[in-house]
Amino acid sequence: MSEALARRADGGGLHAIETASRDEIAALQLKRMKWSLAHAYSNVPHYKTAFDQKGVHPDDLKSLDDLSKFPFATKENYRQNYPFGLFAVPRSEIVRVHASSGTTGKPTVVGYTANDISLWADCVARSVYAAGGRKGDIVHIAYGYGLFTGGMGAHYGAERLGCTVIPMSGGQTEKQIQLISDFQPSIIMVTPSYMLALLEEMERRGIDPRETSLRIGIFGAEPWTEEMRTQLEERAGIDAVDIYGLSEIIGPGVGNECVETKDGIHIWEDHFYPEIIDPVTGEVLPDGEFGELVLTSLTKEGMPTIRYRTKDLTRLMPGTARSMRRIQKITGRCDDMMIIRGVNVFPSQIEELILMQPQLAPHYQIVLTKKGPLDEMTVLIEGRDNAGGDVSGAITALRHAIKTHVGVSVDVKLMPCGEIERSVGKAKRVIDNRQLSQATR
Ligand code: DLL
Repeated sequence: MSEALARRADGGGLHAIETASRDEIAALQLKRMKWSLAHAYSNVPHYKTAFDQKGVHPDDLKSLDDLSKFPFATKENYRQNYPFGLFAVPRSEIVRVHASSGTTGKPTVVGYTANDISLWADCVARSVYAAGGRKGDIVHIAYGYGLFTGGMGAHYGAERLGCTVIPMSGGQTEKQIQLISDFQPSIIMVTPSYMLALLEEMERRGIDPRETSLRIGIFGAEPWTEEMRTQLEERAGIDAVDIYGLSEIIGPGVGNECVETKDGIHIWEDHFYPEIIDPVTGEVLPDGEFGELVLTSLTKEGMPTIRYRTKDLTRLMPGTARSMRRIQKITGRCDDMMIIRGVNVFPSQIEELILMQPQLAPHYQIVLTKKGPLDEMTVLIEGRDNAGGDVSGAITALRHAIKTHVGVSVDVKLMPCGEIERSVGKAKRVIDNRQLSQATR
């Protein structure tokens, strides 16, 4: 019986594994990890070669810690095996493909068997449930549908839980507001940056977002800060809960935050095994230490993923509302890190400080340029509609806060309202003009 059916049979509550003991979870993980390693080794030439080169065999895995002997997988491996080279089953068994947008190079293709689609739906159903959703809720999905995993992943999961799904996709902002008013959803699943654009449109139309039917937002696909949570919750009158995932592992629903604690994302560890490594040395770090998240799929058939380097920076923490371990809200990706005059800066640090200025709107972009050998950073911001004109005090305060808390001097530039590009999906926070500024020097 699928997990969701089991859950419905017992009245829609938690699945037993969500509150199992750590020993029970570890025993299940070990059994499944052995299967997943053997499946990848026997059926995917890339994994066979990589394991052989490292001198390891799936039989060498006697305990969960032995996983550290196995090689990492990277996005580059997906590109090298484009499009279908990492499938572990005949192509005819693959019922769906998705692909990441791939701004550079070829997109990353992922394939799912019918069982994988069902397992994914179970994980997202569990996620929506953790966020407070229940059978019968109306769920408005504004993650993009198509090659991106967000829309369809959320869709199948909410349906699996027994919700009424509105497959709106991203964009058509006015229509989104119309449907939210008319259909009265209680849950919205959308990127946090596009939620801001939706709130702005509601306010523009004279609708008080706190008066809509929405009571839960399930936000993910991009980093967002605790300050953003507070702002979204207050402005929309909702509980804002974090959902995490990535295409290479499955899509949304690798883990989710529980609404009762809102203290980080529980990784659904019965299907995805997390490790944290030092991003430079590759060494596995103990729970609690910050580093790069590495994930191994335990049950996926179509495209098993062994030790995938996500580039997402976080740390592992013990379970709270569920037995499964949590990751702290993701502060950024290794490749989002900007180095400004020797100081490491993440966009999320800047976001945190902008949102602390009540006169500033939560929309921002960071422009990088080069002046001689030095990188320069300009933060583009907007004043709030109701800020009443002069926001120069807030700008000075922001510049000062960035200098004090982040340690870099930046330029802060006030843009006319609406001038900063609004996202309809993942926000583009950083515009890197460094090569351009060198070329035009
Ligand atoms: O963004 C899957 C997804 C869709 C997750 C909808 C949540 C909701 P990709 O396009 O492959 O898949 O991008 C994956 O997005 O490695 C993170 O860097 C980032 N990301 C995803 N969720 C979060 C989150 C989807 N909750 C990449 N917080 C990941 C921070 C996130 N970053």
